[in-house]
Amino acid sequence: MKILLRRITASVIVVLLLNQGTKLSAQSKPWAVPKEYTSLSNPTGNNPQAVKDGKTLYTTYCTPCHGDKGKGDGAAAASLTPKPADHSSPAMLNETDGNLYYKISEGRMPMPTYKNVLTDAQRWELVVYIRTLCKASKK
Ligand code: HEC
Repeated sequence: MKILLRRITASVIVVLLLNQGTKLSAQSKPWAVPKEYTSLSNPTGNNPQAVKDGKTLYTTYCTPCHGDKGKGDGAAAASLTPKPADHSSPAMLNETDGNLYYKISEGRMPMPTYKNVLTDAQRWELVVYIRTLCKASKK
């Protein structure tokens, strides 16, 4: 029940932000990640089950903004400032797993915070899945 309430709160926040999207000013500041996260290694491992579970989570929580293929072109993207990141971009390869984990956990306007919505393991599965999106784009 508590989790359900949190999900509802998170959805309400997203809707509020979407309505405000055009009023938010663009963030030009780089998204700083605390040192202790940067070097974290992914405890999930890149196994096929983690990719599969990550994909399911991504489709549920992330595609509305980041799009089906992670290109940052989800249905809500047009109204957002800044635009959702392109997870298929080679720039993602410059991010450590720990950086992605941190960003998913904390969020940054207009991206929601997921540390209270998704478990640790789920956030790592998302990192594993995002890795498959940037690999796919390199071909
Ligand atoms: C409401 C729209 C929205 C939702 C939903 C959303 N994001 Fe985002 N995401 C964004 C935006 C906007 C940015 C860029 C934020 C910035 O640069 O300040 C972003 C950035 C990111 C980044 C940083 C990429 C980089 O280049 O460092 C990651 C990782 C990420 N999102 C993962 C996720 C995952 C995983 C989910 C689902 C659990 C998710 N996002 C859900 C809007 C969203």
